[in-house]
Amino acid sequence: MSSIVYLNGQYLPIEKARISVLDRGFTFGDGVYEVIPVYHGHIFRLKKHIERLNNSLDEVYIEKLYDLAQWQEILCELIQQNPAEDHSLYIQVTRGISERDHAIDMATEPTVFAMSRPLLKKDRSAGISAIVEEDIRWKYCHIKAITLLPSVILRHKARLAGATEALLVKDGYVTEGAASNVFVVKDGVVKTPPKDGSLLPGITRDLLVELLVEANIPCEEVAITEKELRQADEIWITSSTWEIVPVVKLDAEPVGTGKPGEVWQQATEMYQAFKTAMAKDA
Ligand code: PDD
Repeated sequence: MSSIVYLNGQYLPIEKARISVLDRGFTFGDGVYEVIPVYHGHIFRLKKHIERLNNSLDEVYIEKLYDLAQWQEILCELIQQNPAEDHSLYIQVTRGISERDHAIDMATEPTVFAMSRPLLKKDRSAGISAIVEEDIRWKYCHIKAITLLPSVILRHKARLAGATEALLVKDGYVTEGAASNVFVVKDGVVKTPPKDGSLLPGITRDLLVELLVEANIPCEEVAITEKELRQADEIWITSSTWEIVPVVKLDAEPVGTGKPGEVWQQATEMYQAFKTAMAKDA
């Protein structure tokens, strides 16, 4: 089914949405993006996503064309024009069209693209398999850059190994997944790596930390060694579209009991309750 997308001020069928081959997103991967879930018409954590988008734009010297209210208007229009129960919104801003030159011309008008796809809920509650891989990415992983070749290769390596996600280790420490954040549980204590340049500050991660703290479940934002990862009772990954997913096998070895853990069960129930409350309030 054709969908209606947003491109530089216009709403148009996806087949009619065209960009120049000189767009720097195409030639340099020069741009940033966001992925935002929508539950029953409520754009989940919109403000946080736009804050992160603005931060990514600032970090790469791309002009911010829209404020929160303008983004909200565009995204609401897309939701209306593409009916579905739940949506996954995708926003991409590139530096725009210029002659191919590494140097930035600050006068270049950014290209702004947004689309909405139905968010199809895949049941991953039985858990997934993951592999451990060296984190081959750069030092600015807090920027949600469209330049995703390392992540694409890492996800493919996971697939080749019969797994779903690659959990990444840099200098002996866990950073995150190829497209997710990582949590481990040991003796009832939940841990997730701290937010530095080595990982994306995940919106799901941040919310989950808040919910765990509120529920008095011990939760620490601390460095996690590869050894701790391998000896964890539970491992979870989080993302806006997958929410909280238990990892039950790591490099073909069972994680803990080899089944989704009790703390994950509690965490996911809290997360679902929060989502439902938000959608009702909207
Ligand atoms: N990716 N880390 C990386 C490298 C990611 O790509 C993502 C999400 C996350 C989780 O962030 P959040 O909870 O804000 O979605 C962490 C999205 C979903 C994607 O690229 O499609």
